[in-house]
Amino acid sequence: MIKARYPLLYVPSWEEKRIVDTIQEVASIGPVGKVVYTWTVATGLYRRGLAPVPNTVEPLAALEFVEKFNRPAIFCFLDFHPFLESRNVTVRKLKNLANVIKQDFKTIILISPTLTIPVELQKIVTVVDFLLPGEEEINALLDTVVEEQGEHQYRVNLSKSEREKLVKAAQGLTLDEIENAFSKSVVTDGVLDAADIDLILEEKRQVIRKTGILDYYPVTEGMEAVGGLGALKEWLRKRGRSFTDEAKAFGLPAPKGVLVTGIPGCGKSLCARAASALWQLPLLRLDMGKIFAGIVGSSEENMRKAIQTAEAIAPCILWIDEIEKGLAGTGGSGDSGVSARVFGTFLTWMQEKTSAVFVFATANAIEKLPPELLRKGRFDEIFFVDLPQPQERMDIFKIHLIKRHKVLKKFDLRALSDASEGYSGSEIEQAVITGMVEAFDENRQLNQQDLIAGIVKTVPLSRTMSEYMLALHIWAEERAVMAAFPEQTLPELEPSETDLPLAEPEEIAVGQDCLLVVEAVESTASMETSTDLQESSEAEEKKKAIPGVGTSF
Ligand SMILES: Nc1ncnc2c1ncn2[C@@H]1O[C@H](COP(=O)(O)OP(=O)(O)OP(=O)(O)O)[C@@H](O)[C@H]1O
Ligand SMILES: [Mg+2]
Repeated sequence: MIKARYPLLYVPSWEEKRIVDTIQEVASIGPVGKVVYTWTVATGLYRRGLAPVPNTVEPLAALEFVEKFNRPAIFCFLDFHPFLESRNVTVRKLKNLANVIKQDFKTIILISPTLTIPVELQKIVTVVDFLLPGEEEINALLDTVVEEQGEHQYRVNLSKSEREKLVKAAQGLTLDEIENAFSKSVVTDGVLDAADIDLILEEKRQVIRKTGILDYYPVTEGMEAVGGLGALKEWLRKRGRSFTDEAKAFGLPAPKGVLVTGIPGCGKSLCARAASALWQLPLLRLDMGKIFAGIVGSSEENMRKAIQTAEAIAPCILWIDEIEKGLAGTGGSGDSGVSARVFGTFLTWMQEKTSAVFVFATANAIEKLPPELLRKGRFDEIFFVDLPQPQERMDIFKIHLIKRHKVLKKFDLRALSDASEGYSGSEIEQAVITGMVEAFDENRQLNQQDLIAGIVKTVPLSRTMSEYMLALHIWAEERAVMAAFPEQTLPELEPSETDLPLAEPEEIAVGQDCLLVVEAVESTASMETSTDLQESSEAEEKKKAIPGVGTSF
C-alpha cells in the first residue's frame, strides 16, 4: 500500500510496536530506501535511535514538518485519534497534505487502538487491518524465549506436537500478550512444557473476555447431550474433518457456517456448544448486544475486532447466539445507519471469508432477519429446529434423567413422551426438575408419577403461542431444512453419537402423534418475498393442508 502511494493509511491496532517494526523493515527493503519517523504526543517526531525533531510535539507543527520534508519517508503517528475527534484545523491540514504528499513518495500512517475517522477524511484515509501474529511469528517468538531463558535457568520440555499446540493456544493474542504469557508460564514452575498450554489458553480467555465482545466458551456438553435433531447432527458430523489439512489437500473449502432457527428452547444454543465438542474446536461467543451497546468502542470497530480475533484463532467456531438482536431493523434509519453498516461488514466478511472460522448463528425471531442474510452463499445451510417428535422426546427424557443420575429402567419413556406432546426440550427438562423437587421434598426416589405431574405443571409455550409457532413452520418450510430426521426414517444412532444406553424404544405410531412431518426442503432462501409472520390466509391454508397441525397446539 505504501508502494501504491496511498498517502494516508490508518491501522486500528494495539500493537504499535510490532507495526512500526514491520514498517521499518518494509521501508529498508524497498527499492527506494525510505526514512521512518514516528510521532507521539510526548516526544514529537523522531527517527529510531535519534533525538526528537525539536518543536514537533504540536500536531500542526509535526504535519508542517511532514509537508516540508523533501525525501521519501513514512511518518507513523501514534495515538493521533484525539486530534481527529475535535475536527479542527489539524483535520484540514491532514486533508491538504494527503493531496500533495503523494507525489513526494511520502506516506502518513495513523496507528491507534481505536478507529476514528472524521467525515472530512473518510474518502482519503485507507484503513488497513494489521493481523494478529500467526503461527510463524509465534514460533519465532517462542524461539527467542527459549534462547534467552531456556538454556540457563529453565528447562524446556516440548515435543513437536506439544509445541504446535502451544503455538495454537497463543493465536489470537497480540505479540506483547504472548510474550507476557510465555514469560509468566516459564516463571511459575521453571519449565516450559505441555502443562503451560492450559495457562496460555486461560490467558487468552482473559484477554478475549477483556475485549468485552467475544467470550471464549468452555466446552461442557458433547453431542450426546442433544436429543433428536438427527439431520443437523449428521450434517455437523460430516463436516468434522473439513477443517483439517487433509481436507485442504483434498481441495475441500472450510465450511462457512450454519444458521439454526426455530422454536425457543429446542436445543439451538445447546447444539452450538455441542458442535465445539464434536469438532474439538474453540468456541467464541459473539454478543451482538454488546457490539451495539457502545460500552466499548464504536459498533463497526467492535465487529471488525471480533472478526479479526476469530480469524486469528481459526480454526474455530464463531457462535452468534440470537443474531437477530443485532441485525434486526438494519433497513431502518433509527440509528443513522450504524446497524446497517455493521451488518454490511459482517455480510461482506461472510461472503468472502476463506479462513476456517465457522459461523454458528442461532435465531428465534426469524421475521426480523434481514433477507440478505438468508441468501445463498452466506450460510452453507439454514436449519429449522422444531418441537421434538415422539422418539426425540424419549431421547430428551433419557438425557435429562441420566444427567441427574436416575435409573432409566424405572420409567416408562414412551408414556412420558406421549404426555409431553408439544413440549420443547427445555420444557421437558423443566418437567423433570419439577418432578424431582417433589420427590426430594418427600424424601423418596423419583417415580413415573412425579414426572407426569411435572409435565402437567409445566405449560408449554406451544399451547400459549400456537399461532406464532405455526407461522414459524410456514416460514421454515420455504427456506430451511428440518433439523430433525422425519420420524419415519429415524435411523439407529451410532454409539459415538450417543453414549446413552438406549432402552429398547417401542415402535411409535407415526401420524397422529406427530406434530409436523415435513420433508427436508432445500433452502431456497430467496427472501425478497415478505417474511411477515402474521397469520395470513396462506397460513390458514397450510394449516388445513397439514393434518394434525391445527389441533396439535
Ligand atoms: N434437543 C434437546 N436435547 C436435550 N436437551 C435439550 C434439547 N433442547 C433443549 N434442551 C434443554 O433445554 C435447555 C435450553 O435449550 P437451548 O438453550 O439450547 O434452547 P434454544 O433453542 O437455544 O432456546 P432459545 O431460543 O430460548 O435460545 C438446554 O440447555 C437443554 O438442557
Ligand atoms: Mg438459545
